[in-house]
Parts: sequence; C-alpha cells; structure tokens
Amino acid sequence: MVKNKKENKKTQTDGGRTKTVKKEVKLEQQLVLQPPRGMRDILPGDQPYWQQVRNALTKVSQEWGFGRIDTPIVEFERLFLRSIGETTEVAQKEMYSFATRGNDRVALRPEHTAGTVRAYIQHGMNVLPKPVKLFSIGPVYRYDRPQEGRYREFYQGNFDIYGEMDPILDAQVIQMASRLLAILGIKDVVFRVNSVGTPASRIAYKRALTRYFTKHKKSIPASLQEMITVNPFRILDAKDEALCALAVDAPTSLDSLDDESRTHFDKFITYLDELGVVYEHDVNLVRGLDYYTQTVFEIVARDTSSQRQYSLGGGGRYDNLIESLGGEPTPAIGFGLGLDRLVLEMKRINAQAYEAPRPRVFIVQLSELAKKKSLTIFAQLQKAGILTAESFGRGNLTSQLRKASRAGVDITLIMGQKEALDETVIMKRMLSGTQETVSQDKLVPILRKALKESIVVKKIK
Ligand code: HAM
Repeated sequence: MVKNKKENKKTQTDGGRTKTVKKEVKLEQQLVLQPPRGMRDILPGDQPYWQQVRNALTKVSQEWGFGRIDTPIVEFERLFLRSIGETTEVAQKEMYSFATRGNDRVALRPEHTAGTVRAYIQHGMNVLPKPVKLFSIGPVYRYDRPQEGRYREFYQGNFDIYGEMDPILDAQVIQMASRLLAILGIKDVVFRVNSVGTPASRIAYKRALTRYFTKHKKSIPASLQEMITVNPFRILDAKDEALCALAVDAPTSLDSLDDESRTHFDKFITYLDELGVVYEHDVNLVRGLDYYTQTVFEIVARDTSSQRQYSLGGGGRYDNLIESLGGEPTPAIGFGLGLDRLVLEMKRINAQAYEAPRPRVFIVQLSELAKKKSLTIFAQLQKAGILTAESFGRGNLTSQLRKASRAGVDITLIMGQKEALDETVIMKRMLSGTQETVSQDKLVPILRKALKESIVVKKIK
C-alpha cells in the first residue's frame, strides 16, 4: 500500500513537470511564430499599395532632382542623441539602443535625417553645386506604443535639401509633398505650419514656456516636471488631455520671433498662398525633434467620419544641425513621410492600388525535352520584354492550360516532343482559339505582331 502511494505521488510530480515543459514549448513556439510587438509582415496582398507609394516617391524625387541615398540602419547612438536631442521623447523613450560585442553604443535609426547629414558631411558633399538634394526610403525604429498606424518598425520616405536659406524652398517642399499625395489620390489633408524661429528666437521661446509651465507646475505630471526647465517643448507637444488644455494659453513661438524669423515666415506664407494648398497656422506646433529652426510643418489627414486625425508626414528647417555635427554652416530643410500611414490612408479612401503588369504569354510543355527547350524560349521572351508565365513543374496538359486561362494571357505557346525536335512551337490565340505552328527562331517577331493585334481586337470587343 505504502509503496503504491509513493509511486502515485511520483507520477503526479512527473506529470506536473511534463505540463511545465509542454507550456514552455508552447511559449517558445509562440515566440518563434510571431515577430516582436509593433513589427509586422507586409504580405503580397498589400504590396500593390506599397509599390504605388514607392513609385510615387521615386517619381517625385526625380521630378525635383533628388539623388537617392541609402545609409545604414544602425549608427552610433551619439549621432542620434546629438541631432534629435538627448531630452526628446524619441531619444529618452523610443530608441532601440544597445552595445555591440565590441562594446560600441549603437542604435537602430529612429529617423533618416541624422544619418543623411552624417553622410553629407563625411563625403564632403558641401563641395557639390547647391542645393544638394537627397532622398531615402527605408525602415526606421521607435519603441512607441503600438496601435493602428503606429508601429515599432515603420517605413519613411525622406527628402532633405542642403545649402539654401530662401523661404521659397520651404514652400517648394510643401509643393512636393502635396504633389505626392495627389498622385496617391489622398486629397483630404491639411498642412499645419508654424515657425520656431532662429536659434536665438527658439531660446527666447523656450524661456517663456519654462516661465509659463513653472506657474502651472501643479497641473504637470511628475514624470514631466523635469522637462519644465530642460525641454518645455515636450510638455507642449504632449498628447495628454490636461496638458493640451494647458497648451491653449501657453505663450506661442510668435511672441518670441525676431525680425529675421518673422520675415522668413511671412514670405513662406505668401508663397503658400500662391501654391493654393490647404494650410493652417498652428501656433503651438513645435515638433518632437530638437534640431528644427524657423519653419516647421506637419501633414495631417482628416478622417471626417471618425474625427480622427493623424500625421502622414512632417518636417521643417534645421539650419544649424550640419554645423553642430562638425560640418560647415549649411542651411537645410526636409520632410519625412510615414509610408505605413500613406498605405492605411489609401485603403481608407479606397484609392486605386497599383496593378502589376500581367503576363501576356504562357508556355505549356509536354515532354522532358520540351521542358528543357522551354527554358530557352522563356529566356528569349524575357529578353524581348514579353512578360511570360509558365508552370514548368507540371506536365499535365489540362492543368497547364487551366493555369494559362487563369493567368488571363493573350497567347499560349504549346511545345510537345514533336515541336521540341522540329524546333517549332504551337501558338494558340486564347481569344479566338485559333492556332498555328511557328518556327522557334521567328517566334519573337511573330509574337509581337500577334500581341499587338490582340490588343486591337480586345479594344473593338
Ligand atoms: P517625424 O514627424 O518624427 O519626422 O516622422 C515623420 C512621419 O513618420 C510622421 O509624420 C508619421 O507619418 C511617421 N511616423 C512616426 N512615428 C511612427 C510610428 N511609430 N509608426 C508609423 N509611422 C510613424 C521625422 O522623422 C523627421 N526626420 C522628418 C524630417 C526630415 N525633418 C526634416 N527632414
């Protein structure tokens, strides 16, 4: 009896351990089968929208004479701290920073501008004819609180112009952004604009804000109290309801603008009027990155049905950043667009997605030799720019023809053992069902002619 009890206990303990092990395996599997929070796959079904966005960015970058630049996703952490500012929310809470095996402090880029400026200085681009225009596109990382439209890995398209001070440039980047959105079919947007002024004006503005928030210290959460003196712009920029209410009566940047800043901003506004874009002067707009001077702006999409507003992009001048990182004094302006948000907005408004070019020819092969020869024919057609589909892994005629008709091609080429030996191929017009045998060495010109006729026939029908 006693022995039995003991054995019983033993099995129970073993059973418990097995359960724990099973749980661990399940958890391990879950971790393997999902990406980290805030990161996601962009699946083939969504790619037409992304392709459309990439095409539009590339088109606009070419129209305005931008050169493409790709910088590393990982840079030294201090590059970001010195450019976006050590006390900003992005630097303090959102950077993916770590030490490498060699003990270098690095970070995943939280935006493109810092890396682009580093490259501009490092490669001596200051000797190039001004303005120097650089464009980039790629993933950026912020340890933000994930929700729809806000991710930890997201994509930005980034445009930066170096070497010109004139406010017409500020209007030109707005014009570019506006053209880009128009190409994507996104119409209901407003450009929120403001000026934070020259560095001297910015300092005066910062002091005024510190004075104001000190007076209202009690209404500011403990976590942000330190910012009253260190970085009051962060309190102004906070999304918290009580702080937004406090911001309403806060001093605005306009009160601190010096003559130079005022003239710059007034001219910018005159150019904006000329452009005819929808804009609003938001006197509290400061943006969350420290490098901005003079003009700042944000592009906001308005969803009238849900009253939701979110920022599709933003930017501004940063006339001091290059010098502060060790380059020669160079004015600069730029903006970044959140590509994930552009795609969301396109879907929301049912904008048309890019349609990939469809194949016009399908190759059916019916023997081992025909399969081998089909490879050469496929390469020939590809070289001639004729988009071709195939199903080389299948040998069955019916299943291949089914695939051809599903692909919606105009012409199917059929090659059996006989055609492979004769160096011919059967050309079947899918619309009329007629077929003829053609020699392989004349295939490309004959196909081109047949495809042209096929378009005409389709149009007439
Ligand atoms: P930003 O306003 O921090 O500016 O980011 C630009 C855009 O990136 C935002 O307007 C938004 O569309 C998108 N974005 C930001 N955070 C997220 C997120 N967590 N998930 C999805 N999208 C997001 C900059 O980054 C500046 N570097 C722009 C710039 C370029 N200024 C001068 N040159």
